[in-house]
Amino acid sequence: MTESKDKKVRRVFGRRMGRPMHKARLDVLDTVLPQRKIAEELLTENRDKSPADLFGHPVDKLHFEIGFGSGEHLHYIMGQFPDDHFIGAEPYINGMTAFLKEFKEPVPENFRVHMDDALMVLNSLEDASVDFLYILNPDPWPKSRHHKRRIVSAENLEVFARVMKDGGVMLQTTDVDELAEWMVTQTVQCPHFEWTAERSEDWKTAPNGWMSTRYESKGKDAGRCQTYLIYKRKPRKVSV
Ligand SMILES: C[S@@+](CC[C@H](N)C(=O)[O-])C[C@H]1O[C@@H](n2cnc3c(N)ncnc32)[C@H](O)[C@@H]1O
Repeated sequence: MTESKDKKVRRVFGRRMGRPMHKARLDVLDTVLPQRKIAEELLTENRDKSPADLFGHPVDKLHFEIGFGSGEHLHYIMGQFPDDHFIGAEPYINGMTAFLKEFKEPVPENFRVHMDDALMVLNSLEDASVDFLYILNPDPWPKSRHHKRRIVSAENLEVFARVMKDGGVMLQTTDVDELAEWMVTQTVQCPHFEWTAERSEDWKTAPNGWMSTRYESKGKDAGRCQTYLIYKRKPRKVSV
């Protein structure tokens, strides 16, 4: 647990450092990361920062990926939507360097990263900032006593709902059946989200234009099935 201002915040990730890295991988921590990381003074966790504050220029559509691993999906969607803006959070240093080392100069201006808990950024953003939220293969925390660490929780869904724009899309995937059931149950119980699935094919089939990360492909090779859960942020009630 980390103390943050007046409330205790549960940080949900585990390890930060894995295998030792080659110098080329480490170099991006001194070159690209300082240019594209969200500055600490912006991480107020006071829900007061606009996407434009984080980027230093106007932002229209904003995609946010929580726990991007080595960033394959984030790179892919950046290629698909070159005019949009992107924030990726990943505390695992090997994942962050894997993502950053793929950029060639000039490094695009339309993304920001955070090498720590995604909640620190989400809690800093003002309401209705995010158009697309991706939570792909989150850590399953299989033991019951660890379920409270799961990123898709009633408490965090309130945060996701607050930062998402009306009609915004949240995508969750997993190849752990029990986690899929957990994520659906938690999310449909949250009054702010509507699950878009109408039939089982909708959660068993990848959305159009989907790219599989290595993590997803490994699961498929091992015989596991990927579940794709898509939700819409319901419109906020307008007070009269
Ligand atoms: C199982 S991996 C999946 C990686 C990637 N999304 C994929 O599908 O290949 C889960 C990732 O979520 C990250 N993670 C866990 N909790 C997080 C949090 N609170 N904020 C940001 N990332 C987190 C972990 O470091 C880990 O890299």
